[in-house]
Amino acid sequence: MKKNIILMGPPGAGKGTLAKQLLNAFPFVHISTGDMFREAIKAGTELGKLAQSYIDKGDLVPDEVTIGLVKERLSQDDCANGFMLDGFPRTIPQAEALEKICQEIQRPIDAVVNLDCDDKELIRRISGRRVCKNCGTPYHIITMKPKVEGICDKCGGPLFQRADDNEEALKVRLDHYVHSTKPLLDFYQEKGLLENFNSLKGSELLFDEVRLYLGK
Ligand code: AP5
Repeated sequence: MKKNIILMGPPGAGKGTLAKQLLNAFPFVHISTGDMFREAIKAGTELGKLAQSYIDKGDLVPDEVTIGLVKERLSQDDCANGFMLDGFPRTIPQAEALEKICQEIQRPIDAVVNLDCDDKELIRRISGRRVCKNCGTPYHIITMKPKVEGICDKCGGPLFQRADDNEEALKVRLDHYVHSTKPLLDFYQEKGLLENFNSLKGSELLFDEVRLYLGK
């Protein structure tokens, strides 16, 4: 079974949705830098204030801040059973730093799961996404509706639209993806770690494919 995983893909490709499904099948912990920043924003911490000034515009939070946060998280005991990084690394310096961290903590990356999706579908998904305020479960107003409108099926929390899910910020996020994050696909391909999946498939089919690839 593959234990330490990186989940990659453009904004809206379905990383968060897939990660939540995989958590029911695998013992690893889910480490989403986007979720960590959003929690810090909610808590009103200094990190949250800093992160918000970048996230709301669709920009990337500076590497040194993000790397420090991930390093601390990966060193925690619960990562010994495996981890799934979602949204990290997003730049070459982050990927290089991750290599060093993994060597230090002796937890090497086993696989990089990349979700492919075209821009038209990404825009459709992001503009219709609603997220649970309590547990973060993502929904879509047309294709992944909750049973009761505006309410999370899992925890009953209220659904809301993320501040960076608007047309202007999305353009910036897609641009950062193309220029800063996409080059990482070659980086991991050369290391023989990359596996591509078509995320245009329904989420259940995609889940089954990735689950089998990871060894269950
Ligand atoms: P982050 O939270 O990581 O956002 P993202 O990468 O833009 O990804 P999203 O959360 O938007 O999409 P997703 O791929 O998880 O899709 P989802 O499953 O929700 O980061 C946010 C911000 O934080 C960044 O912009 C940056 O500012 C900062 N940040 C984070 N990490 C950083 C880093 N390492 N360095 C610097 N800054 C960082 O699905 C989307 C929609 O599609 C949903 O409505 C869902 O219901 C639907 N859907 C999902 N899967 C399917 C499917 N298979 N078929 C049909 N519909 C589907």
